[in-house]
Amino acid sequence: MAIPRDFINELIARTDIVELIDHKVPLKKAGKNYSACCPFHSEKSPSFTVSQDKQFYHCFGCGAHGNAIDFVMEYDRLEFLDAIDELAGQHGLEVPREQGTGTRRDEGLSRDLYQLMEEASLYFQHQLKADTDKQKVVDYLEMRGLSDDVVKHFGIGFAPDSWDGLLSRYRSNQDAQDKLLTAGMVIAKDNGRRYDRFRDRLMFPIRDRRGRVIAFGGRVLGDGTPKYLNSPETPIFHKGNELYGLYELKQKHRDVDKILIVEGYMDVVALAQFGVDYAVASLGTSTTAEQLQLLLRNAHQVVCCYDGDNAGKDAAWRALETALPLLKPGDQIKFMFLPQGEDPDSMVRKIGKTAFEALIESAQNLADFLFDTLAQKYGTDKGNLAKQAIALIEKVQDTVLQNLLLENLAHKLGMNSGEDLKKKIGFNTKVSTQPLAKKGLKGRGTPLRLAIALLLQDPKVGFGLAVQPALKHIKMAGVDLLITLLDITRTQQLSSAQLLEEFRNKPEHGTLKKIAQWEHQVADANVLQEFKKSLIWLNNQYIEQRYQELSLKQTHTKEEKVQLSKLISIIKNARNTK
Ligand code: CTP
Ligand code: MN
Repeated sequence: MAIPRDFINELIARTDIVELIDHKVPLKKAGKNYSACCPFHSEKSPSFTVSQDKQFYHCFGCGAHGNAIDFVMEYDRLEFLDAIDELAGQHGLEVPREQGTGTRRDEGLSRDLYQLMEEASLYFQHQLKADTDKQKVVDYLEMRGLSDDVVKHFGIGFAPDSWDGLLSRYRSNQDAQDKLLTAGMVIAKDNGRRYDRFRDRLMFPIRDRRGRVIAFGGRVLGDGTPKYLNSPETPIFHKGNELYGLYELKQKHRDVDKILIVEGYMDVVALAQFGVDYAVASLGTSTTAEQLQLLLRNAHQVVCCYDGDNAGKDAAWRALETALPLLKPGDQIKFMFLPQGEDPDSMVRKIGKTAFEALIESAQNLADFLFDTLAQKYGTDKGNLAKQAIALIEKVQDTVLQNLLLENLAHKLGMNSGEDLKKKIGFNTKVSTQPLAKKGLKGRGTPLRLAIALLLQDPKVGFGLAVQPALKHIKMAGVDLLITLLDITRTQQLSSAQLLEEFRNKPEHGTLKKIAQWEHQVADANVLQEFKKSLIWLNNQYIEQRYQELSLKQTHTKEEKVQLSKLISIIKNARNTK
């Protein structure tokens, strides 16, 4: 790994996991620990606990567990290196990268680019006050109704009407000029001559989450074209990953419940000026999955705000499709449409903060927007409506939302309940099986891994245990290992060390040694109970799996029919008692 171990240790030491998690999943003190409903699976009563002493989290429901880095990786769905960056960013630390082990990008170059972009931004801001043309800019700002405060807060500036306003500041520095080219601030002609990309434009600096200027959007002061000119993709700017105004929003509010996503720079700035200071804009493209994830990491409610025309409806629909697979329990996405011809900038100026916020409050929820749109599209053609709806509902990972949508659809189709609909179409709520099936033993903290760990660290829990016939039918990496361990411990009273010894020279030895060291977070008194819970969970996996296999078959033998109806009643009972 290119990041020094010491640094990672320091990061973990500096991070308080309770504080970290509490920002995203509000925690309640429960005895020595903290608890909440688990963010990694749908549940109604809290089985997710966080230990301040151990700086670990653990869910007794789904078995998810880990330290601060694991949480950021799992919750924010980041890769390891990005999770480190994220945590370091929260502490204002630079991530050191060891020499020679292949850094992810040219760190030196990036540093210089950030520096140059900051200088450019300061220069543009200075030109607001110093440029010979400044009067026309001041007039424009006044015409748009932007206050000095908001201009300052967003770092808005002016790029002078010149081919080399910015470039000429680096006349004797070839290296800096080359970097301005890399940063997208200057353009090279075929003959090699270079000139400023942004000329005679109002400049909106785009900052990353750490507040570093990474790009600009420039608006003409009038009716020229293009109305907006944006930085190109550069080593430090990938527009699909960034949101205009997010840094400025976080400066105002450390925590927000709700973020509004709008289309334009001016919309963000005008809304902020009127006190709706929790809006961001995607950067001239439709909202990407990365942007939505970034938003949902910062707030549990995202309101997408569009113009009331067809283009706005299309954009909203694309955002809905992007959002469906990303939503986690507790996340909410809503849609609001402005009257024809208005955008948030014009609207908030016309009706003011209170009325605008009332519009936000009356935004459509996801289910309503989804079904209204489908109803408009398919009218009375229920067959196609159902088909499209199911295709969308299948993408949803959050079981609560998924069931809600299914209930809604069943109702629209004149059926009694979502369960009836599911049975009719053979719909499998996949979430309960998915995290484990996907990750197998490699994933951190699955119930299977927990079962193996508990048994290995406390082999007496397996002694005298009944044979578990379902286990060998479960298609899941790692189940074989659990079966072997159960076979050994069922008949002999072994210590953990002795049990491990049985595996020396076997391929599983390395894995088992690791699992033996793993801090599973289950209190001694609960080990047996948790172990049994894991086995129940695994048996349920088998039931779900067998049910799926059978329900996919066209014809059934007599035996299979009996089994299927048994399975259905077991599953139904299990769901009703949840
Ligand atoms: N945009 C762009 N390039 C353009 C036009 C628009 O990148 N040629 C992006 C910008 O991010 C802009 C957003 O799309 O902020 C919305 O564009 P538009 O609705 O045309 O502009 P407004 O934000 O309403 O800007 P203004 O009020 O200044 O006209
Ligand atoms: Mn506008």
